[in-house]
Amino acid sequence: MYYPDSVIDEVRSRNDIVSVIGSYIALKRSGSGYQGLCPFHNEKTPSFHVNPQLQIYKCFGCQKGGNVITFVMEYENVSFPEALRILADRSGYTLPQETESDRAKENRTKREKMMALYKEAAEYYYRKLRASEGKYGMEYLTGRQLSRDTMREFGLGYSDGRLYETVKGRYDDAFLNESGLFTFRENTGAVDKFFNRVMFPIFDQNGRVIAFGGRVMGDAKPKYLNSPESPIFNKSRNLYHLNLARKSRRGYLILCEGYMDVIALTQAGFDNAVATLGTALTEQQATLIARYVKEVILTYDSDEAGQTAINRAIPILYAAGVGARIVDMSPYKDPDEFIKALGAEAYEERIRDARPSYRFEIEFMKSKHAGDADRARAKTEFERDVAAWMLRFESRLERENYMKLFCEEYKVDYRAFAEEVNKAGAAAERRARPAETEPQRAPEVVNGDGEAVTAVRAKKRDEILNTQDYLVTLMASNPKARRVTRKYLTPEDFTGTVYQDVVARCYAMDEDAVADVATLVSRYETPEKQRLVADMLADEMALSTGDIAKSVEDSVMKVWQRRREDLISKAKEEHDDLTAIRMWKENKKLAEDMRRRLRAETY
Ligand code: CTP
Ligand code: MN
Repeated sequence: MYYPDSVIDEVRSRNDIVSVIGSYIALKRSGSGYQGLCPFHNEKTPSFHVNPQLQIYKCFGCQKGGNVITFVMEYENVSFPEALRILADRSGYTLPQETESDRAKENRTKREKMMALYKEAAEYYYRKLRASEGKYGMEYLTGRQLSRDTMREFGLGYSDGRLYETVKGRYDDAFLNESGLFTFRENTGAVDKFFNRVMFPIFDQNGRVIAFGGRVMGDAKPKYLNSPESPIFNKSRNLYHLNLARKSRRGYLILCEGYMDVIALTQAGFDNAVATLGTALTEQQATLIARYVKEVILTYDSDEAGQTAINRAIPILYAAGVGARIVDMSPYKDPDEFIKALGAEAYEERIRDARPSYRFEIEFMKSKHAGDADRARAKTEFERDVAAWMLRFESRLERENYMKLFCEEYKVDYRAFAEEVNKAGAAAERRARPAETEPQRAPEVVNGDGEAVTAVRAKKRDEILNTQDYLVTLMASNPKARRVTRKYLTPEDFTGTVYQDVVARCYAMDEDAVADVATLVSRYETPEKQRLVADMLADEMALSTGDIAKSVEDSVMKVWQRRREDLISKAKEEHDDLTAIRMWKENKKLAEDMRRRLRAETY
């Protein structure tokens, strides 16, 4: 669905960037703008800035930036038209109706098409569970004490292996192959990936189906089969049931390992359960959790694998600013079994008694040395482990509080222990030093064509782009600078397709107009291009520049020179040596002329 510019502008102007972003994250006033903790990467000190004058945002940590539409696209993980719809709803504006012919002609993006396929698959499985084909599936789920309401709430289904027959021909096979719902073989052709399994749809933040888990109804292996990552499913960025659990009023989330745990907890009245689906908790998932709650109740399996997974999850949550407490489910294995045996109230009690994470971690370290018959050595090793662990607390106050608590509870001499902590700190610093020369985790940068590249690959951002940012910002905000620049440079003189496009738009503006940055940003549909344009038009130096004449002169010359160099190399590449030599000879004189004319300009 394509909306005309006027509609996009209307939606944008009805949604002030500060109030929209402020409704997702906490913003504090800072100078002429606002700042807060970036929702797109883990951080403890705010590097996320919102500029109310330009109506754009920028994170100086991860480089994400754009206007209010970009923010919604990135935060809600939706396409441009979807973000527009969310913002229109938010401001009580009705978007023009999609017409029948529009829909027919609509060139849907692959993501949208994939979502449609998954929706269709979910509806198919759902129907089959309730039809005669799904009899055993229904018996299985009923046997696991799920009510009809619960099955409906979670959209549970059954795969009879005949989904391919119903979609074949309506989507092309390459696309179906990419969806991961089918297996394509040379000789037999395509078959359903899921056959004779009960199906658990996985929803995104907005309640759309983006993947499936399928469970066998007996003891066959593999017990669960999951649809693979696809254009719409990124495993490490999703949590099962978060779309509903985030709306809970309990103020914390219950984090479990599996589908059935979440479902059993929900049925027992806990509306705030989510699951990682058999993989270790990732940083992105922790960041996602941090958007909604400050505390998580961890309820992984009681076996050794589950306990180890808890021990890994705690520091990841801590780094994202989320505290954790751990439920003791003994003698049962998981919440599903516990609740079946002892009921919801008993589980509520276990939540109340859940141990704070530091206790869990300390006991976990202790258990590692439990097998050592030399008790003194076991105790020393354990205390050393705890000393190294204390380094996680960057604040001295916080660290010392934990050190005191530990020494009291485990009967350890504080001074001797503090000495161990200092030693561990020095050792960690020595280890960290050589790593400093290694590249930091690369923030993403965007090249002049609006494509995302990692900073390592891009090495450094092309120098000329900085000059172009400076000049384009000057032109956009200052009609005089624009009038002069357009006499000397065509859009094609700029490098990068997005730059050329923005320059053409600037040249097309009314003579005295000042560009509206956020509006220009909305002319681009991908978050990468939006980020590039927002950065381009908010060049700090250009916005505070004093000497317009000198600034325009220098940057016009640089852009012009670069273009000449490009043309000369192109001629050489095409073995047009005559042209290359002629241009090279003319260069000096042309440059001198140009500089003289630029100096004669009045502003
Ligand atoms: N899992 C998986 N593939 C497997 C086994 C497990 O993807 N072969 C994932 C599933 O998301 C599952 C979770 O890991 O829900 C936890 O696994 P497990 O504890 O074995 O399953 P339960 O949730 O307890 O499932 P059930 O009660 O149905 O046995
Ligand atoms: Mn289970």
